[in-house]
Amino acid sequence: MEMSAPLLIVRMEDIAAARNKARNLSKALGFGTLDQTRIIIAVSELARNLYLYADQGQITIYKQQISGCVGIRILSVDSGPGIVDVPTVMGSGYSTSGGLGAGLPGVKKLMDEFSILSSAEEGTRINTVKWLRTPQIPSTQNPLHPDTASSSPQLLKG
Ligand SMILES: Nc1ncnc2c1ncn2[C@@H]1O[C@H](COP(=O)(O)OP(=O)(O)O)[C@@H](O)[C@H]1O
Ligand SMILES: [Mg+2]
Repeated sequence: MEMSAPLLIVRMEDIAAARNKARNLSKALGFGTLDQTRIIIAVSELARNLYLYADQGQITIYKQQISGCVGIRILSVDSGPGIVDVPTVMGSGYSTSGGLGAGLPGVKKLMDEFSILSSAEEGTRINTVKWLRTPQIPSTQNPLHPDTASSSPQLLKG
């Protein structure tokens, strides 16, 4: 895990900076253009929420690596008023601000992992990950790779 500096989201321009960071890192990690777009929209939605509802907050975007799997993790943290009713907000059709990514349920759909903790005392913490689909091991050592599978006696038996 390579933690990078949190991006402070205070002004409108900071949302664009977070988008750029998401674009650069997702591209560098090898995400395809469609996944890059999903990640950028997710970051954009989270940063926008910080700006609109929490006055300010922090977005941290970094590489995640767990036993050969590479992903991008996005943390959104603020000390704002909290979300009063998380289940309602997470139901589709709630989003009020007309953003591209259809609010927090949209972020959940665009990413692979999503969790949210929110209270009036502690503010809001959203933690989300998107994993890279490409296996990080050489294809010849990957049991799921067709070349390996077809030459494997075990897999040819009954
Ligand atoms: N970081 C936050 N702090 C406080 N309230 C938030 C935060 N993020 C979202 N909310 C609340 O949750 C609601 C739903 O957010 P979201 O799903 O992004 O949709 P939208 O921003 O379009 O309303 C917002 O209208 C707002 O009331
Ligand atoms: Mg929103």
